[in-house]
Amino acid sequence: MSKKRVLSGIQTTGNLHLGNYLGAIRNWVDIQQDYDNFFFFADLHAITVPHDAKTLAENTLKMAAVYLASGIDLNCSTIFVQSHVSAHSELAWLLNCVTPLNWLERMIQFKEKAVKQGENVGVGLLDYPVLMAADILLYDADRVPVGEDQKQHLELTRDIAARVNDQFGKQKPILKVPEPMIRKEGARIMSLTDGTKKMSKSDPSELSRIELLDSADAIKRKIKKCKTDPVKGLTFDDPERPECNNLLTLYQILGNKTKAEVAAECQDMGWGQFKPLLTETTIEALQPIQHKYHELMNNRDYLDSVLREGASKASAVANQTLARVKAALGFLPPL
Ligand code: TYM
Repeated sequence: MSKKRVLSGIQTTGNLHLGNYLGAIRNWVDIQQDYDNFFFFADLHAITVPHDAKTLAENTLKMAAVYLASGIDLNCSTIFVQSHVSAHSELAWLLNCVTPLNWLERMIQFKEKAVKQGENVGVGLLDYPVLMAADILLYDADRVPVGEDQKQHLELTRDIAARVNDQFGKQKPILKVPEPMIRKEGARIMSLTDGTKKMSKSDPSELSRIELLDSADAIKRKIKKCKTDPVKGLTFDDPERPECNNLLTLYQILGNKTKAEVAAECQDMGWGQFKPLLTETTIEALQPIQHKYHELMNNRDYLDSVLREGASKASAVANQTLARVKAALGFLPPL
């Protein structure tokens, strides 16, 4: 029996943080051997908010190095750049024309990000989830491993696929309806400066997030300054102590421990004892990734070749789906 297909991606905006790593990449690495995987760099999504043309390409390359350094295995996974496969933009247009506007206006991320853009909010930001639906549906993905914040976008993807099938695929479904894959632990890593807000690339404070490429000193400083509470004895799942839950979760996942082990180890600890432990665990977990990352960034030819091959494999799959959708929608085939 052939393996089920997994697809996921990350926007090439700025540096990746622990939320992206624990909510997404680490899970991809853990499951990849059991699936046929496509992981990509969402550079078209990165321009849905004002972006810097001088850093976009470099950010994409850096992200390729991060995926590989984190353990993405090219024997079972294809990695590619979204803008290198033109079918993404083309299917997004076709899906735009079957997606009701009010489905997009309901999206929480749109509402949150639109507030920040004020008068300048672009059409691309509203349309972002349709492009995301195109990303997923082009590959007939069975599963989409993401963090909790992408759940609503996946529901929308499923709704769009069902609508296309309903309108144009009565005899035979045209698009595969994918399942989200959201792991319980790490699906929502919170800010270090406010345990009620998710860790995010767009938070103006660098102290709110640990980036995958942060130096040991930066990690030490951020954990030293992170928000805690005056209570002694550290516990998970206390709604009054969101920071405590978040920091214990980081310690658990980065240290490869079970929740019960961490709960027992930390139940009598104070912050003065816990913070150095978390610092050490974080540095140890990130160091091997950082070493590999720097090696890869010094080997530009290799990265280029991986991305060239990735684009070619991805295009082969995506173009077939695109042709199937265009045929179902009734377009005159190219003559
Ligand atoms: P992006 O770039 O915002 O985030 C990439 C991945 O990281 C997860 N994530 C988190 N997980 C846990 N805690 C956090 N604080 C946290 N912050 C981010 C996200 O859930 C995501 O899995 N629209 C997507 C990119 C995308 C995509 C796709 C994903 C474009 N097309 C198709 C899957 C399939 C995004 O902006 O993710």
